[in-house]
Amino acid sequence: MDNEEAAEEFDGDWLELREPFDAAARDPGLAELLMQHVDETARPRFLDLGAGTGSLTRWLGHFVGRPHSWILADADAELMSRAFDSMMEAADEVGWKATWPQKKALLMHSPQGAWRIEGILTNLAEAPDSLPLDKVDVVTCSALCDLVSEAWLERLAEAMAQRRLPFYAALNVSGRERFTPPLPGDALVARGFLRDQRRDKGFGGIALGPEAPAVIARVFAAQGYTVHRAPSPWIVPRQAHEMAYELALGHAEAALRHERRGAAQIREWAETRGLQADDGKLAVRVEHQDLLCLP
Ligand SMILES: C[S@@+](CC[C@H](N)C(=O)[O-])C[C@H]1O[C@@H](n2cnc3c(N)ncnc32)[C@H](O)[C@@H]1O
Repeated sequence: MDNEEAAEEFDGDWLELREPFDAAARDPGLAELLMQHVDETARPRFLDLGAGTGSLTRWLGHFVGRPHSWILADADAELMSRAFDSMMEAADEVGWKATWPQKKALLMHSPQGAWRIEGILTNLAEAPDSLPLDKVDVVTCSALCDLVSEAWLERLAEAMAQRRLPFYAALNVSGRERFTPPLPGDALVARGFLRDQRRDKGFGGIALGPEAPAVIARVFAAQGYTVHRAPSPWIVPRQAHEMAYELALGHAEAALRHERRGAAQIREWAETRGLQADDGKLAVRVEHQDLLCLP
């Protein structure tokens, strides 16, 4: 892989920090609707694209309520290993046994039946060819579609439509963020952040960024899917110092890549936001949408 095709890297500590905000943000109504769709499948099999540290599995798995399995797909071996550690910790916290019967998959023994979890290391840029679509009943992802290109999504939707697979895509940014209280540099940072969201993130074209919800809906509807949408905002209160701080820093770093002439103002913005976060005076709201596309 040359640099342009390398998978975008994510920090495991960042994914861990946002996990409770992700969980609070995702729309439970769409998750229930997905479960109704698979309610006649005895042991539903889920494929989670860009699974990271497994945050979606730890949330969505609780809606299944019977034995089921997951294939976590990601390019990052470190995140994958962390996903399995976090699964075992999560099982331990609620008193479930976790076992590795054939060293291939982790079994988390919930009172309603086992969750079977395995991982595949794969560059999703090559999807759908590289994906085990014939071995699953549902394809999911969370916070992935803003990275992909429209052409990539079209190929995935076509391959999924041939198999009549539902697509559940949670936490797609919709481009609206609000840092409170307002600061003069907000518009500049927002503009740079938006430009960063549209750079090529290794999926063969401009990343969808905040266009993701609209493009997912259009592309799957064109394949005959019924598309359900629900808002799933991150609501970061003033007391959540670290999350507010990391969000401000992430926005500033992304904006700095594109707004060279405004660099001094962006640095000043980041410094002020950092102090506000430390003092418990910074609140943030980031809009997302969850989508459920049913064949
Ligand atoms: C924003 S993180 C989301 C992780 C997880 N779904 C969550 O909600 O916490 C995006 C994930 O996509 C993975 N990813 C990005 N580009 C990829 C690629 N080309 N192939 C495979 N995984 C990729 C990253 O390693 C990362 O785990």
